[in-house]
Amino acid sequence: MIVDNHSFPAATQALHFGAQVVAKNRLYFSSLGMDLCDEHGFPLPAFFSVYQALMDGGAGFGFLGNASVDADARYNSRGLRLTSAAHAQALRPLFEAARARGFPLGVQLQHYGPQSLPSKQGIILTPSAIASPTILSAYPEARAVAMTDAQIQRCIEQFCVAARYAQQAGATLIQLQASNGYLISSFLSPKTNQREDDWGGTPLKRARLLLAIVDGIRQATDHKVAVTVRLGMDDGLGAQGQHAALLGDVVAALEASGVAAITCSLGISETFRFFFKNTEQALAMSRDGCRYLKRFVRIPLGFTGSVADVAQADEIIASGDADFVGFGRAMLADNHFVAKQLAGRADQVNRCRGDAFCFRDKKDPMAERVYCCVNPDYRRPEQLQQHYEETLK
Ligand SMILES: Cc1cc2nc3c(=O)[nH]c(=O)nc-3n(C[C@H](O)[C@H](O)[C@H](O)COP(=O)(O)O)c2cc1C
Repeated sequence: MIVDNHSFPAATQALHFGAQVVAKNRLYFSSLGMDLCDEHGFPLPAFFSVYQALMDGGAGFGFLGNASVDADARYNSRGLRLTSAAHAQALRPLFEAARARGFPLGVQLQHYGPQSLPSKQGIILTPSAIASPTILSAYPEARAVAMTDAQIQRCIEQFCVAARYAQQAGATLIQLQASNGYLISSFLSPKTNQREDDWGGTPLKRARLLLAIVDGIRQATDHKVAVTVRLGMDDGLGAQGQHAALLGDVVAALEASGVAAITCSLGISETFRFFFKNTEQALAMSRDGCRYLKRFVRIPLGFTGSVADVAQADEIIASGDADFVGFGRAMLADNHFVAKQLAGRADQVNRCRGDAFCFRDKKDPMAERVYCCVNPDYRRPEQLQQHYEETLK
């Protein structure tokens, strides 16, 4: 496909993550957990075909969805795990394929924390014994615990071990999931972190867990892996929740600790639906938040969420609001979403309908994986599609 760099001069600039990792452009596929793993977190064949197609779709870089660092903290029974050398070995072919393409493929490391299913012992790990209302309504008997120092240290170690497995698999880029209400994000939030010890109190103290993980991973990987952070810059909960205005010192501290880039996002489980529906508002919040946070750092800082197309991404990057821009659902609907537009074939894009049924697949007991309404390769079974449309909320 012939790429016309003149039409999108800002988006088609190269992007550097530290000294070693370079992306050919500033458009990325955002972490999408496709739930294509077996119950032990090993990828099934379809997992490889999705990510290979995404790597060939024109984006400059991208991230695998949630790889859980704790075998006991899960979102559902089909998510990826990175908790053993065997998991690393299973992922090797994908990173070999990425290397052969010169494609920076990152792996997202995740602890689900307050939004996790309860562990086998019925426990949910949190900063201040506040679990997600969504989880508690489904599992009223679950017990949210405020993590002890020992549990926090164990969690830091789990991230470091998973990072070493990522490195063994061949990854040169890692994304820490510090957004969307999961464990690290719940520590960063003033609403869910009410601790009075050194893990809570001020924005920087709430970031202590994240900073300790960054530091631990950089040491564990001998500084050879570029560490990036997906940062939740607004949870949509209003005055008591998380806001970009609270995160200036935090992003500066992340840069000082050697983080190579920051990818911002919005929402937590209670507010995902709001952001999926109100795209104009979501986009304005992301742009305002990134513009503000960019004042505190020199490392690349960008976001994903509600960006319509490559032309809009180019305009956002050219305006200086973000250094790079991602796509989630649009790239699921058409894996070649970026390539087609860069080649001047926007009319051939298979467009996402924006209903976020794919996100609903992650929890619906009738769904066996994440599907798509419009991509013929991942089309949702007719009966399930009909069920969603009839119960559209
Ligand atoms: C089906 C689905 C799976 C997702 N999985 C993840 C994930 O594993 N990790 C993550 O950080 N975000 C995940 N997200 C959020 C996306 O990365 C992205 O931020 C969100 O879809 C908003 O971007 P969009 O408007 O371009 O789709 C997921 C979203 C969807 C729809």
